[in-house]
Amino acid sequence: MILVTGATSAVGKAVIKELLARKVPVRAFVRKPVDAAKLQAQGVEAFLGDMTQQASVVQALQGIESVYLITPAAEHLVETEGLWAQEGKKAGIRHLVKQSEIGADPRSSSPLLHYHGKAEDTIRALGVPYTILRTLFLMQNFELMYARPIITQGMMYAPLADARMSYVDARDIGAVAAHLLGEEKYQYKEYDATGPEAITCTQLAEIFSSLLHTPVHYATISDEEAETVLQGLYSPWTAHAVVTLLQFYRQGGGNLVTPVVDEVIGRKPCTAAAFISEHLQSFQAA
Ligand SMILES: NC(=O)c1ccc[n+]([C@@H]2O[C@H](COP(=O)([O-])OP(=O)(O)OC[C@H]3O[C@@H](n4cnc5c(N)ncnc54)[C@H](OP(=O)(O)O)[C@@H]3O)[C@@H](O)[C@H]2O)c1
Repeated sequence: MILVTGATSAVGKAVIKELLARKVPVRAFVRKPVDAAKLQAQGVEAFLGDMTQQASVVQALQGIESVYLITPAAEHLVETEGLWAQEGKKAGIRHLVKQSEIGADPRSSSPLLHYHGKAEDTIRALGVPYTILRTLFLMQNFELMYARPIITQGMMYAPLADARMSYVDARDIGAVAAHLLGEEKYQYKEYDATGPEAITCTQLAEIFSSLLHTPVHYATISDEEAETVLQGLYSPWTAHAVVTLLQFYRQGGGNLVTPVVDEVIGRKPCTAAAFISEHLQSFQAA
């Protein structure tokens, strides 16, 4: 059986869907009864707990062969992932696949990239068979970041200047993860999985304009302005961490296209235009 944490996140949902389609038994780690009920209705075994707590982790790992570890972007990331790797090793799991960020590095000045880098080091050092799957800005963030200003002002705001970014669809990452899990040939390997093209925000705005048949313009904003907006969505630590991640992207950290999705799952990753076409209603007034 495969255990998926962060089961309500965009990638978590996608991994679970892929595993169910392959008829692989899945246990989803969630913290809200309403999510447990929804997943059970889909044929998933739900485990209710707190992924930062040892007792929950030990219990959730019983009878598990492989884990897809998604940890929220939070201050406890290093401790939580260390706990899962340690308890996973004790429980004798065969494979731990960690979801990480492209640019993860213990020397990074971005708290999130620093924490992911430290967590990767911890997992490598503990000796549990692992795979690291790094990715970047998910297309599923478009709605949260851009839908409202597009609908109300025909504008897109981000502190990204003209940086190129290979936005990636969480469903592609979910499919890659489902392929990696439990497969010996992928153990002790590390992957940077991106979308198919690295585009600027101006190009993204042009895609929105063309698909919505209405002008959408992009304006870059300062880190301070971005942090104020993000504080309305996340905890102060996470809002700051996301701003520093966006700084990393502005400096070119998201300007890479890798063949990982195609090589692992055998099909090209989704383009931004295809993703937006599919979710057009989210960017139109009701
Ligand atoms: N989003 C991106 O663009 C992106 C790109 C690359 C890498 N990543 C990495 O992927 C990871 C997840 O990011 P995300 O943006 O997808 O996060 P997210 O949507 O906020 O999802 C976090 C998940 O963790 C769960 N969770 C939070 N605290 C928990 C706890 N104490 N016990 C059990 N479950 C808990 C949440 O459950 P609830 O539904 O109950 O809140 C949710 O399922 C992060 O490490 C991030 O750095 C994200």
